[in-house]
Amino acid sequence: MASEIPFGFDALLADYRHRVDAALDHWLPAATIHPGRLHEAMRYAVLNGGKRFRPTLAYAAATAAGGLLEQADGVACAVELIHAYSLVHDDLPAMDNDDLRRGKPTCHVAYDEATAILVGDALQALAFRVLAHDPSLTVPPAIRIRMIDALAVAAGSRGMAGGQAIDLDAVGRELSLAELENMHIHKTGALIRAAVVMGAMSVDGLSEKSLSALDHFAQRIGLAFQIQDDILDIEAPTEQLGKTQGKDRAANKPTYPAVMGLAAARDHAKALLDDALTQLELFGDQADPLRWLAIYTVSRPS
Ligand code: IPE
Ligand code: IPE
Ligand code: MG
Ligand code: MG
Ligand code: MG
Repeated sequence: MASEIPFGFDALLADYRHRVDAALDHWLPAATIHPGRLHEAMRYAVLNGGKRFRPTLAYAAATAAGGLLEQADGVACAVELIHAYSLVHDDLPAMDNDDLRRGKPTCHVAYDEATAILVGDALQALAFRVLAHDPSLTVPPAIRIRMIDALAVAAGSRGMAGGQAIDLDAVGRELSLAELENMHIHKTGALIRAAVVMGAMSVDGLSEKSLSALDHFAQRIGLAFQIQDDILDIEAPTEQLGKTQGKDRAANKPTYPAVMGLAAARDHAKALLDDALTQLELFGDQADPLRWLAIYTVSRPS
C-alpha cells in the first residue's frame, strides 16, 4: 500500500489537470461571445493555473471505484467551477480584500467589482449546467440528480457559503477548537467532500459501503486541506503561494496555527491524514492515486 508519494505522481497530476483544463475550456463560453467582457473575466478567473486539487480528487475517486476518467470529466469540471467562483468572491473587498490570486491580480482588480460578482454568479450556474448536461456521464438520471443535490448542498448555506459566513463572523473573535473545525469543515471541507463523493458516484454500481468509506476519507482530507492552507499562509512566501503571505494574521482571521500553534496544527493535519488513509483500506491498489493525493494535501508547498 502507498505510504509515500512515488516518482510518477507529478505525471499523474499533470494528466488529471490537462483533462480538466480541456473540459473547462470547452464549457466556458468564448470571450468573443456576447457579453464578451463577462465571458473573458470568467475565463480569466478559471483558466489561470490553479492546482485543480478538487478535480484531481474526483478523478482519483473514480479510479478508486474502478471507473473511467472520462466519466468524471463533468464532475471534475463542475467542482472546479464552484471553487473558482468561491475564490473570486472570497477575494472581494467585502470579504478578504485580496489583490493577488494564482500569481495574478484578482478578478475584481483585473476587471471591476461588479464584474467579479457576476463572474461568480455565472460560474456557479455553469457548474450545475455541466452536471445536468455532460454527455460523457452515463450514470442513470437518478444518480445525476443525486450529484446535483450533493453539489448544491456543498456550495450552499449548509456548505461553502455557510462556512464563509462563519469565517466573516469570526474575524477578530476567539474561536474554540470546535468552532474553528466547524468553520473549516464548511468553507473548504464541503466542496472537497463533494469532489470525492461525486467522482465515486460517476462509477456505475458502486456499493454504499465503498461510497461511505470514500466520504469519510474526504471529510478528513477536506479539513486537513484547510489546516495546510492556514499553515502555508504563515510559512510560504508570496511567490510560492501565488497569493499574499500573512494575510490571515493581518486580517485577524481565526486559523488552526493561531488557535493551537504551528506545531500542533501540523500534528493535527498528520493525524487527519492517517485517519483518512485508514478509510481506504478496503480498496486495493486502484486507490493509490487517492492515497498520494491525501499525502500531498498536508505536504503541498502551495
Ligand atoms: C484555496 O484553494 C482556497 C481554499 C479553500 C483553501 P486552493 O489552494 O485549492 O487554490 P487553487 O485552486 O490551487 O488556486
Ligand atoms: C477560502 O478560505 C475558502 C473559500 C474560498 C471557500 P481562505 O480565505 O483561507 O482562502 P485563501 O487563503 O484566500 O485562498
Ligand atoms: Mg476567506
Ligand atoms: Mg481568502
Ligand atoms: Mg487561506
